[in-house]
Formats: sequence, structure tokens, C-alpha cells
Amino acid sequence: MQVNKTLLAPSILSADFTQLSTSVELAEKAGADWIHCDVMDGHFVPNITFGPFIVKAIAQCTNLTIDTHLMISDPDAYIPDFVKAGSHQITVHQETCFHLHRSVQFIKSLGAKAGVSINPATPVSTLESILPDLDLVLLMSVNPGFGGQKFIPSSLHKVRQLDTVRNTLNPEMIIAVDGGVTVDNAQDLVSAGADALIAGTAFFKAENPAEAAAKIKSASR
Ligand code: DX5
Ligand code: ZN
Repeated sequence: MQVNKTLLAPSILSADFTQLSTSVELAEKAGADWIHCDVMDGHFVPNITFGPFIVKAIAQCTNLTIDTHLMISDPDAYIPDFVKAGSHQITVHQETCFHLHRSVQFIKSLGAKAGVSINPATPVSTLESILPDLDLVLLMSVNPGFGGQKFIPSSLHKVRQLDTVRNTLNPEMIIAVDGGVTVDNAQDLVSAGADALIAGTAFFKAENPAEAAAKIKSASR
């Protein structure tokens, strides 16, 4: 286990965008560790969300870690803009990078932490060569593109596989899981090796977000 307490990263995608600063404050007060920003381009994924302008607005509302998830083709072209906007960590998709090592080094050279995400159909083994260079891996447990989808059960096995490899290759690396995380599957994910859980619907659409956050964060190894 890389962190003593389960990290919670509410995905702003499920928040009320007419009340962005209130939503960020809600997450902060509930004990969130990161604010997860889902950037989608309508090309790599079938949905368009927001760009650096909104990430900057979010970053200005909080001191929490800004965790930017780039679901976009050609991420290298936009990485500097997202760092300038206030992202502390940037995750690119393995599937979008022809030269993944170059993209990862590029993020780090700009002073941000570097993450790589893989889709549900992409095997964990594809990350082996890049693992020693990463600060985090974001395992997708739904097909990226939308909030509110159902958790794909086989993802749990991928968390276990990744946990085994990282213990050998990069014990400091964080394993984050993204998509369909709930108060009900949080414990299983953490037992399997997850350190950080991204939660959109389970947090922002909960009847009592603070209670949901506390339950998710109480998951322990
Ligand atoms: C999916 C996004 C996720 C999503 C999570 O493409 O990367 O971060 O917003 O939302 P929930 O928790 O509702 O599945
Ligand atoms: Zn995401």
C-alpha cells in the first residue's frame, strides 16, 4: 500500500456547473484529496467536456491537488496549457500516445506529476516498461466518455495485477481507479490495491455527499 489512507478524488464532471466553486467547496469540506478534472475531446471519446479555461477556474477555488485526466487525442499539444491552468498531476491515455515515454517525461519536465490511464480492454502488461517512470496509473473501470456508468467487474482483477507489478517495479506509484466507483465497491478496490478512488456520481449525486465521502475514504487495506 502506497498511502496510509484511501485518497478520494471527486470527479467534477458530475458536479453542478452552475455552482462550480460551491461544488469544489463541498468536495473540500467532505475531505476530498484531489479534484478530478475529466477533459474529453469528442475524438478519443464520444463526448466533449471542458478545457484549460475551466481547469484554471477550478484550481482557483481550492488548494486541493488538481488531478487532470486527459481523454484527448494528441495530448502533448495541450499538456503545457493544462499545467499552466494549475494541474498538479496530468494523466494521459496509453491508447492516445505514440511515444508514451516522451509524453510522460514532458509532463514531468513541466513540474507536474505524470499518470497513465488504460481503458478496460487494454491489458495491464502494456504498462510494464513505463511503470518505473510513473507517479500514478489510472485504471479505467468503465469505458471513458461519460460519468454515471456501471463498474466493469473484471477491473478488480486488473487492480490486483497492477498492484503485484508495481510492488516490484515502482512501489511509490499510486494506483487510482476511475469509473463506477461506489460506497459499495470501494472496500474491494482498496483491498485489491487501489490507493485513490475517483468518484463522480457516488459523491456529487449522493443524498449526503459528506457521508459518501467518509465511507469511501474509510476503505482500508
Ligand atoms: C469517465 C471519467 C470518469 C467519470 C467518473 O470517462 O473519466 O472520471 O467522470 O464518474 P462516475 O464516478 O460517475 O463513474
Ligand atoms: Zn476520469
